[in-house]
Amino acid sequence: MAALQHLKANQMPTASLDGPDEVAKEGVRQPTVWVARLQVNAFRSYRQAGMETNGRPVILTGPNGAGKTNLLEALSFLTPGRGLRGARLSEVDRRVGGDGAEGGETSQPWAVAAEVVVAGERRSLGTGRDPASPRDKRAVKLDGAFASSQQALGEVLSVVWLTPQMDRLFQEGPSERRRFLDRLVFGSDPAHAGRIAKYEQALRERSRLLRWEKGTPDPAWLTVLEETLAEQGVAIAAARCALAERLASACALAGGAFPRASLAVAGDVEAWLTDMPALAVEDRLQEHLRASRSGDAEQGGAAVGPHRSDLRVGHLQRAMPAELCSTGEQKALLIAIVLANSRLIASERGAAPLLLLDEVAAHLDEERRRALYDELLALEGQSWLTGTDPSLFDGIGGNAEFFSVREGRIAPDS
Ligand SMILES: Nc1ncnc2c1ncn2[C@@H]1O[C@H](COP(=O)(O)OP(=O)(O)OP(=O)(O)O)[C@@H](O)[C@H]1O
Ligand SMILES: [Mg+2]
Repeated sequence: MAALQHLKANQMPTASLDGPDEVAKEGVRQPTVWVARLQVNAFRSYRQAGMETNGRPVILTGPNGAGKTNLLEALSFLTPGRGLRGARLSEVDRRVGGDGAEGGETSQPWAVAAEVVVAGERRSLGTGRDPASPRDKRAVKLDGAFASSQQALGEVLSVVWLTPQMDRLFQEGPSERRRFLDRLVFGSDPAHAGRIAKYEQALRERSRLLRWEKGTPDPAWLTVLEETLAEQGVAIAAARCALAERLASACALAGGAFPRASLAVAGDVEAWLTDMPALAVEDRLQEHLRASRSGDAEQGGAAVGPHRSDLRVGHLQRAMPAELCSTGEQKALLIAIVLANSRLIASERGAAPLLLLDEVAAHLDEERRRALYDELLALEGQSWLTGTDPSLFDGIGGNAEFFSVREGRIAPDS
């Protein structure tokens, strides 16, 4: 794919592998996972731009519309999935010269390339829209070689983000909460992305069969699909429950300025898993699906399965469900969860996730901002933060790298 080859040909000089030790203040932990170099091509507002970092937290500042969130989105494509905006891939191609609602013309497919350091090893990751694919599909390159699927990225790196859109995570329907939980699971269990892809494909195919072939769907094909749904569905539910439990323990251990969160996954399959072995739950789910074919045909989809589950979060000190907490408390709960997740994954996998925090500082009072910066400096995964006002980041001072973003250009602040 041309854009990815182009990125390879334009590689920037190699940054030091030594990381921030030489520059950071004493007592600041050197991250074990960080982005040494990032380059974007034809990516939203960027024609071509690149930056290098030394492992310390990265602070991107600039006016509204400068391209700060676009850069975080580029990083979010270094893991499987549709990135932090959940975008269609063609939407990300850079548009130029438009004056109508459709935007301008796109000239080439977008691409992102990065050199990441994971536990002392430098890996090169590349991804971009594959123009040869009839469906919206991403091409992926790992250490210079094309990979057959996006899942390969998850084996190298996990990325977790908080965006302003997630401020309503606890108010809205469960699908965004499931996605949030699944991204946390990817960090400790990269195979989770593959299970979800297989499950969703079987779910769509079963719904299609039931909808279009009412009365005459091929029962043998439905049975095959339901077998896949039961097998993958139970594995998905079990992985989500296991992580929620470990995360709840990690949150309970954390002290400091952020609330302690309780986490639980609610759903039929999850409830069955509490008092039946996984294999028996698979049989039960498969039997349930077989028996509900006509009802599911009427409803337009399966009524039971992990695609209906919900993540329930609570504020332990307040003994309050998250949806009844204040906006700032909800934000603090989300931050507490991603921080606990980062510590948990670091201890379990030896490689913490990258943390992308879009506009979080503005929501927090000064004491919590300082507490956040202290926490970020102690993490093993590099964090990337954005804000319009550099003074919001005074508390992190010389322990972070500051970059100004303006009109598609990124410049380190001297
Ligand atoms: N496909 C695209 N092609 C060209 N430009 C795009 C495309 N998609 C988005 N943009 C533009 O990218 C610009 C930067 O967006 P971005 O969300 O990164 O800004 P930001 O710096 O995060 O701003 P804010 O402080 O308001 O959050 C916007 O002006 C947006 O219209
Ligand atoms: Mg933004």
